[in-house]
Amino acid sequence: MKYHRIRGTDDILSPEIEVWQELEAKAVEFLTRFGYRQIRTPILEPLELFQRSIGESTDIVEKEIFNFKDKKGRNICLRPEATASIARAYVENNLYQLPGVKKFYYLGPMFRAERPQKGRKRQFHQIGVEAIGSYSPVIDAEIIHLCQRLVQILGISEFRLEINSLGCAEDKRRISDYIRAKIKNNLSNFCPQCQKRFSRNVLRILDCKNPQCIATIKNLKIDIGSQICQDCYQHYLQVKDYLKVLGVKFVENNYLVRGLDYYTRTVFEIVSDKLGAQNAIGAGGRYDNLIQEIGGPPQGAVGFALGMERILILRGKLSEIKYQPVVFVVVQDSTLWKVAIAEVMSLRENGILAEMDYQQRSLKSQMRLANEKGVKYVLILGAEEIQKGEYSLKQMDTGIQRRIKREDLIKILKQEA
Ligand code: HAM
Repeated sequence: MKYHRIRGTDDILSPEIEVWQELEAKAVEFLTRFGYRQIRTPILEPLELFQRSIGESTDIVEKEIFNFKDKKGRNICLRPEATASIARAYVENNLYQLPGVKKFYYLGPMFRAERPQKGRKRQFHQIGVEAIGSYSPVIDAEIIHLCQRLVQILGISEFRLEINSLGCAEDKRRISDYIRAKIKNNLSNFCPQCQKRFSRNVLRILDCKNPQCIATIKNLKIDIGSQICQDCYQHYLQVKDYLKVLGVKFVENNYLVRGLDYYTRTVFEIVSDKLGAQNAIGAGGRYDNLIQEIGGPPQGAVGFALGMERILILRGKLSEIKYQPVVFVVVQDSTLWKVAIAEVMSLRENGILAEMDYQQRSLKSQMRLANEKGVKYVLILGAEEIQKGEYSLKQMDTGIQRRIKREDLIKILKQEA
């Protein structure tokens, strides 16, 4: 074998692809019903877009972006996520001039050069939602509600929704100083990664998975809620109230900080213990400063993205839907291939999945192929019958073969299939 797929990428084949299509169709129907419209942005974007929005000292920007220089020396990358792309498209297309909250959804591949493992790919797929143009806690609640309903719609019933508030940009700075002050005398108790984070991105220490880091943080009784300003605190209270009105079950996780710098105020994650180390099915939050950061007017915004691969791991089972041909058209002699191809096309146009032997082999070989394909019927074309305006139809499970009128074929197959 000369060529292999790139590490951390997948070929998605049938019958698995049918599950993807089914899930995508369900998501599209559901999100459209909630007033979200699809947006498709390019997979290639300027590298700087993500450096600015996700943040220079995040794992994604520091080491996970696939980037390259184009022929004119510009820094291009494969998008690692879509929120920044949608914020760019929003500003570039002056969508802020439209009235009300603009509600988008998207489906597509994202790229991160992470170490591949179960549920962690270098090319993975997200279904995401962004609502731009409001600071109201109502829309936080709508988005969180939508996120967990979408997870349910896609067939997952066991998960935990965790929420937190990071406060505004000023609060985040205060929280960082507070955490630094709390841990600076205990730094040696943290893992080397966290020691690096201390000066660069101290918030991320809170969601380190290292057991010793977790224990040290608990011992130090770090409570970032205590550092949040009155306005942000009120906003968070209201989000929780609206969630209760909507019957959304959540747990507060004071250590939930997220790995992207653009978040302010509400953040949330949907996690499953069945996923192992990569336990987030989906995640999101508010990013009230991002639109302005990218050159637009101030606009409140909130969104989330689900990881399709992780949803598929949790669902486990394959699709019930079988995309098998119903009828296989065979010919008794080689003069009849023109009749066969015309009949196959006509059956398909009439909504019946029909196949034939494209290698135009003997009747015996055609019958063997029909058998292997597991079709319900074989339609046998013979010169003599055709002259009388008839075909033979064989039902494969019973072996019963009967003559039918050509003009009745579609009616019969539709009735019986
Ligand atoms: P994120 O937490 O980086 O957020 O990714 C969201 C989801 O994408 C994760 O919960 C996970 O299910 C999936 N995911 C992430 N990385 C991988 C990977 N390497 N392999 C497989 N699945 C993965 C964002 O991307 C934000 N843009 C979400 C958002 C939208 N926030 C506001 N709006």
